[in-house]
Amino acid sequence: MLEIRDLDVHHGNSRTLKGLSLTLSPGEVLCLLGRNGAGKTTALKAIMGQMKASAGSIMLDGRELTDLPAHEVPKCGIGYVPQGRRLFAELTVRENLEIGLMTRGSGKEILEQSLTLFPRLRERLNQVAATLSGGEQQMLATARALCIDPSVILLDEPTEGLMPSMIATIRDVVTTLRERGKAILLVEQRMEAVLSVADRVCFIENGSVMATLPVQALKDDPSLFARYVGVG
Ligand SMILES: Nc1ncnc2c1ncn2[C@@H]1O[C@H](COP(=O)(O)OP(=O)(O)O)[C@@H](O)[C@H]1O
Ligand SMILES: [Mg+2]
Repeated sequence: MLEIRDLDVHHGNSRTLKGLSLTLSPGEVLCLLGRNGAGKTTALKAIMGQMKASAGSIMLDGRELTDLPAHEVPKCGIGYVPQGRRLFAELTVRENLEIGLMTRGSGKEILEQSLTLFPRLRERLNQVAATLSGGEQQMLATARALCIDPSVILLDEPTEGLMPSMIATIRDVVTTLRERGKAILLVEQRMEAVLSVADRVCFIENGSVMATLPVQALKDDPSLFARYVGVG
């Protein structure tokens, strides 16, 4: 279980996360919702050790991650698909995946598992990442995160700017990973994307959690989405 307690993160003098707390269990999809600037990306970066916590704690299965250097966090089994993908654009699909494999010394079978989820990538192993479509790049960023054989996966707006067929692919992969017992923290801005995959939703406003609810609550009262995310 991933447990974040009373987390504070600053950008310079500005307090971006203010006592943020959440928990995430194996086999669960928790959606992080909130307006632009609410602090969603900052929360994921803090988990990954890319932003320093000034207070609070981040624990994974009882192990303190809070002050680990960024290169150690993936080795604990946390896969990260950053907003905007951040691939190595000049490297091939295969080379991008190999970097994922090296991070944790994963074997060929982990690469095979990732490619089985994304057959389109298997067909494009020698293609340079920059020449992939947006959807294929998102697949590659996700497959790269899976190459560390994570127990927890953080996805930051994975469907942003994708066409519907690609959105469906990403959604199906998230569902499959959940069935395999992965703990998934998903930042999304689209209501349908949330309703179709989330178990619980966590509304973030101004660096704090305003409410954490089962997804059914959002189905029952869609106005919650407009209230916290600002779009319907
Ligand atoms: N590199 C940065 N320098 C200064 N402030 C930043 C930086 N990145 C984000 N922030 C501030 O932190 C807040 C939260 O940003 P972010 O976590 O990216 O929000 P979200 O992902 O929810 O849109 C915003 O108010 C933003 O202005
Ligand atoms: Mg963001």
